[in-house]
Amino acid sequence: MSANRIAVVGGGSAYLPGVVKGMIQRAEALAGSEVVLYDTDPTANGVICRLATRMVEVAGVEITMRSADTLPAALDGCDFVFTTFRPGGMAARAADERIPLRHGVVGQETAGPGGFLMACRSVPVLLQIASLLERCAPQAWIVNYTNPTNIVTDAVFRSGWERIVGLCDQHVGDLEEWRRLLALGSGKLEADWVGLNHATFTREVRRDGVAVGDLGARLARLDPGAMECVDDARLVRVAQTLDLLPNSYARYYFFHDEIAAELAAAPATRGEVLGEALPRYYAAYEAAAVAEVPEPTMSRGGDGHGELAVDTICAIANDEGRRLIVNTRNGSALADLPDAAVVEVPAVVGRSGPKPLAMGAVPRPVRGLVAAIHEYEWVAAEAAATGSRARALTALALHPFVRSLEAAERILDEGLAHHAAALPQFQTGG
Ligand code: G6P
Ligand code: MN
Repeated sequence: MSANRIAVVGGGSAYLPGVVKGMIQRAEALAGSEVVLYDTDPTANGVICRLATRMVEVAGVEITMRSADTLPAALDGCDFVFTTFRPGGMAARAADERIPLRHGVVGQETAGPGGFLMACRSVPVLLQIASLLERCAPQAWIVNYTNPTNIVTDAVFRSGWERIVGLCDQHVGDLEEWRRLLALGSGKLEADWVGLNHATFTREVRRDGVAVGDLGARLARLDPGAMECVDDARLVRVAQTLDLLPNSYARYYFFHDEIAAELAAAPATRGEVLGEALPRYYAAYEAAAVAEVPEPTMSRGGDGHGELAVDTICAIANDEGRRLIVNTRNGSALADLPDAAVVEVPAVVGRSGPKPLAMGAVPRPVRGLVAAIHEYEWVAAEAAATGSRARALTALALHPFVRSLEAAERILDEGLAHHAAALPQFQTGG
């Protein structure tokens, strides 16, 4: 066990109650720790701080919660910075989704041009955090959930700050989806998802440590035509076509045009729906903060959302050497991607951070797709950091969703104009 100071940037995030639950579960490993919440929205930060304080109090664990008024105050002397903010909130996300859709391109929070626009807002904040840490907490680790997590992580590495781990728990939910679809029953499932964030694949699933021998046969027996849920059917069709299990974001690559049309025809985007729903979550958190049992009636992220972040912090703090799937520099983990690429792979996480495991080459037949997405991400990270319009255009033109330079130009112009006030780097960039 070790006492740590954990700064949370995005302390007002609606996902935080799930993370606090994760901390309570690992209370022994975190005994004596202090969590400092900071958010640009002090009202949301206050609600979450009150709820979190009540949660740890009722659980009787040795973790304290407090809030900080400024980012430097939150970071001062911390051991970990957990970044989990959404720059510009749901309104900015909704614009990221809408703008590509006007040009026939999937508009999505993390993948494609929508994710690029988000990266342009996230990356400068992460770079600011890294530069503040140089002065006030040079040994701290950044544990990042802020999306697009791979691009953010890459930009921070390339700024010279090495102590960052990029996280996403999509693979946890995806494996549960595959448990259901392939009728894998109970038992602990594990898979070595490899590739890039929201673009990972696996050929094998282990149940209680043993490879599921008939995975291919189970997959072949599924009939996507008989499935009620269209996204389940899409996922199964991709899996059967590739003979690999894909991350659920694969649907945007393999069904791009029909999903773009569906999203454009829908009355609201995901960000718009959530923007409307969020006040109800905070009302539930307010109520839970003064309840005898501080269990909100609704909570973002669902059970287990915070576990990966908390496990990562514990693994570093207590030198656990634990195997976790993270976004980190490739080194030689994936043989056919550059060493400096940020990849999502299994890694052993201990005091010196994640050590990615050698996973061989990216499986065929997605080697080309993964390489293409990486080339986009590499340029996107640079563009988001420098504010270079020219590099931004290169990034968008390279993304597999964008099949015309004309569309790339229009999306970029509209995106930069819409978000101009939030993107100072593009006002001075080349
Ligand atoms: C998954 C992804 C996250 C993403 C989230 C969006 O958890 O892995 O990267 O932010 O879904 O969920 P939402 O409910 O906001 O659409
Ligand atoms: Mn994710």
